Amino acid sequence: TRVAVLHGGISAEREVSLATGKQVVAALREAGFAVTPIEATADLGALIAALTPAPDVVFNALHGRFGEDGSIQGVLDWMGIPYTHSGVRASALAMDKTAAKAVFRAHGLPVAESRLVSRAELEIADPMPMPYVLKPVNEGSSVGVHIVKAGDNRRAEIARGWRFGETIMAERFIAGRELTVGVMGDRALAVTDILAEAGAFYDYESKYAEGGSRHVIPARLHPDAYARAMEVALAAHRALGCRGATRADFRYDDTRGEPGELILLEMNTQPGLTPTSLLPEQAAHCGVPFPELCAWMVREARH
Ligand code: DAL
Ligand code: MG
Repeated sequence: TRVAVLHGGISAEREVSLATGKQVVAALREAGFAVTPIEATADLGALIAALTPAPDVVFNALHGRFGEDGSIQGVLDWMGIPYTHSGVRASALAMDKTAAKAVFRAHGLPVAESRLVSRAELEIADPMPMPYVLKPVNEGSSVGVHIVKAGDNRRAEIARGWRFGETIMAERFIAGRELTVGVMGDRALAVTDILAEAGAFYDYESKYAEGGSRHVIPARLHPDAYARAMEVALAAHRALGCRGATRADFRYDDTRGEPGELILLEMNTQPGLTPTSLLPEQAAHCGVPFPELCAWMVREARH
């Protein structure tokens, strides 16, 4: 099987994708595939030309806009090339936090109260009682995420400096822990408890800096909460119509005892596969080494 690994791209997560791509190329070679790395740039014509002698499968190692939101998936569908991970619709739904939340709610899955505001509205007033989280509706890796807590007067400044589109999502801040569950097809892998560096939340820096966070796998939780996280992750994967591997991110408020309140934050259809990423770690924990995980994704590729 000839596999083209698409990486790079033009989103805010370009660097993350380069790291994912590098690992995937090495892993697929180790697994015996003929691999061609292709760096995606702003030149779509060049990308299409690079794909035209036609690999058998595209491994989509892109993150963020154009790579994770259904855009590249549409191009590959049109070209008739099978690709890894989710298709157009699931990708577009998952990348739009507002749309994904509406689908999750319709399926009875637990999500946090939120409100969409314009930059102008945010500059004038708090969109909800503090503490709350401000996030772009379509970015990943915590790019652009701010937590606004009582006594914090950065709101107007954040509004003025905002560069992630006209609409901003304000979401109730959930105290407690950050959990994540990887999904491989019809199987939820494990629950990881993520401990960010002291004082930080699980932001871009703590996600990708070596030692920026500590991962406890399997998470030490009340067994009911553990089972619930596994169940909600799989239900979220299915609700959006995802394919291949995904990763569901949660907050878990155990500050008033266990089992606490579990809130689904989002579904990632292009989960990071970098050296500090969570899904490869969970797969390994379940006895699936990284080259095998990547080979499985190639076998699951569709268009
Ligand atoms: N958005 C990053 C790549 C992740 O979810 O892992
Ligand atoms: Mg994300």
